[in-house]
Amino acid sequence: LKHLLTTEGLPRSLLERLLDRAEPYARAAEAGFKKDPLLVGKTVVNLFFENSTRTRTTFELAATRLSADVVNLQVAASSTAKGETLLDTLKTLEAMQADLFVIRHEASGAAHFFAEHAAPGVAILNAGDGRHAHPTQALLDAFTIRRHKHKFEGLSVAIVGDIVHSRVARSNIHALRSLGCTDLRVVGPPPLIPAGIVELGVSVEHDLMRGLDGVDVIILLRLQKERMVGAFLPSLGEFHRDYGLTRERLARLKPEVLVMHPGPINRGVEIEGEVAYGPQSLIIEQVRNGVAVRMSVMAEILANTQ
Ligand code: CP
Repeated sequence: LKHLLTTEGLPRSLLERLLDRAEPYARAAEAGFKKDPLLVGKTVVNLFFENSTRTRTTFELAATRLSADVVNLQVAASSTAKGETLLDTLKTLEAMQADLFVIRHEASGAAHFFAEHAAPGVAILNAGDGRHAHPTQALLDAFTIRRHKHKFEGLSVAIVGDIVHSRVARSNIHALRSLGCTDLRVVGPPPLIPAGIVELGVSVEHDLMRGLDGVDVIILLRLQKERMVGAFLPSLGEFHRDYGLTRERLARLKPEVLVMHPGPINRGVEIEGEVAYGPQSLIIEQVRNGVAVRMSVMAEILANTQ
């Protein structure tokens, strides 16, 4: 693996290797052993042009725990605010002998642009580009599901909410399909389901409880208002009424169904606070697993480079 830009087209063997490689990092952290010398001498630059709490922090922790040097460019205070282009920013930071860039950007394709223009030997990790892809979120979601369900074959997974604007939905669909999940459903109002989504191997349901019937895992998504300029915008109250996961609705599903959300959550909209922090919720565990999975990806890409 040279760059990680998307989960689309990634073979099952590679996905499983990345999940397997994350397991000892997760176990070591659980046992209180967090530091590994693997990436001593490597430099990781976090370039976040869009807001982030979980992804930026867990990438920083992952690189630090692998003993890399880590730089977090303060984008708002950087020369991009003076008009410096993405390309010139990349070349400037490459001159400081960075080995890996973690990039989040509001434009779909930004990470591919970086990968096309990066110097040989410099790796690009996509931390979310527009509505296109968020591959490490999909990996940490798969890792979290596997830790609880131990397999993907035979699992029913529903992704609920704003699918059309969601890079997480797309990356999860590609990863879970490749890993062997065959009953993958997207659930939401028609304007929030993208045309052609069934071609990715999912079924579509507009009624929440029909879509959740018999599922093992629910992945909730928030309404991404920042990407809805000029688009259909259901009121938050309407969305909660029709698609919000409440305790009452959860009680009508399989007792062992797991609830996931990439965060940030909008309490009282797509999920009730009591469900978000209830016994079936893996939301906090997803965040924790993000560190181990991002360590795995960085180790896979950087450990064998000079
Ligand atoms: N899930 C996720 O990408 O969260 P952040 O926006 O906080 O990084």
